Amino acid sequence: MIRKAIILAGGMGTRMSPLTKAVNKQLLPLYDKPLIYYPLSVLMLAGIKEILIIVNKGQLSQFQKILPKHNSLGLKIKYKEQDKPRGLPDAFILGEDFIGKDNVALILGDNFFYGQSFTMKLRDSIKLKKGSTVFVHPVKNPNLYGVAKVNNKYKITNVIEKPKKFISNLAVTGLYFFDNNVIKYSKTLKPSKRKEIEITDLLNIYRKKNQLNAKLLGRGGVWLDTGSIEDFYSASNFISTIENRQGFKIACLEEIALNNKWIKKIDLIKQISFYGNCEYSKYLKNLIK
Ligand code: DAU
Repeated sequence: MIRKAIILAGGMGTRMSPLTKAVNKQLLPLYDKPLIYYPLSVLMLAGIKEILIIVNKGQLSQFQKILPKHNSLGLKIKYKEQDKPRGLPDAFILGEDFIGKDNVALILGDNFFYGQSFTMKLRDSIKLKKGSTVFVHPVKNPNLYGVAKVNNKYKITNVIEKPKKFISNLAVTGLYFFDNNVIKYSKTLKPSKRKEIEITDLLNIYRKKNQLNAKLLGRGGVWLDTGSIEDFYSASNFISTIENRQGFKIACLEEIALNNKWIKKIDLIKQISFYGNCEYSKYLKNLIK
């Protein structure tokens, strides 16, 4: 059972400069919440309470303002600084003490997921004992992502980072589940041409052992990119459309914590005074009624 997860929320956000000059990308608004609320909500839906957030050196206080260690969400949050973007598997090297002897999930701080039965798939993924499971989803432009070839037993038979030649339209999303070997394997990786250690090289270690499983989000599932400013705005529009139509919020952390029975209604009062007089607080007030 996976009980711990890492959110990788560093990176330079260069593609979104000047917006990201003073503020970390994961703290920019994705419609009505900071971007990081969305990946964090995914982990909470999975039932994971112990979370390490990796942030850029010098930006820790920005994150702690919005997600304090001592929060009213029922979560145990820890932070670690990354002094420069060394690549995604650096999460497991920096997170070694946090992970200890356990298995671990990783979610990229800029990934958005939504869809029917997603929670069920998450709850199933945390049962992982050995090997690795990654979520994959079809995209029109696979050359922008890590891409996987999957056989009819949901085993990944090939995985390539940003392939120039078409191998499959299944992108490897930024949501991964690993056994404890991930620390050991990450330490063996050598930087690629772009001077980063690559998640696909790590995944290939598992693939060669026939231990890399694909989980399909399914056609009704949504995985959106927030890589460029255009993507950011389309994701914001998507959230606004759904929320304003249904009256339910996507990624309301307190609502998930309450449903998980990690907090009580009384804790919402603390959160309402933390947020102040805003639409988000109004939504929380409705949850108390
Ligand atoms: O979004 C899914 C894709 O994410 C995968 O399909 C690719 O296989 C994977 O390599 C990754 O590709 P990107 O090119 O989108 O990764 P990027 O460098 O943009 O980093 C993703 C997030 O992780 C971003 O929020 C910044 C953060 N990050 C990244 C690196 C390299 C860190 O916090 N530290 C790092 O060292």
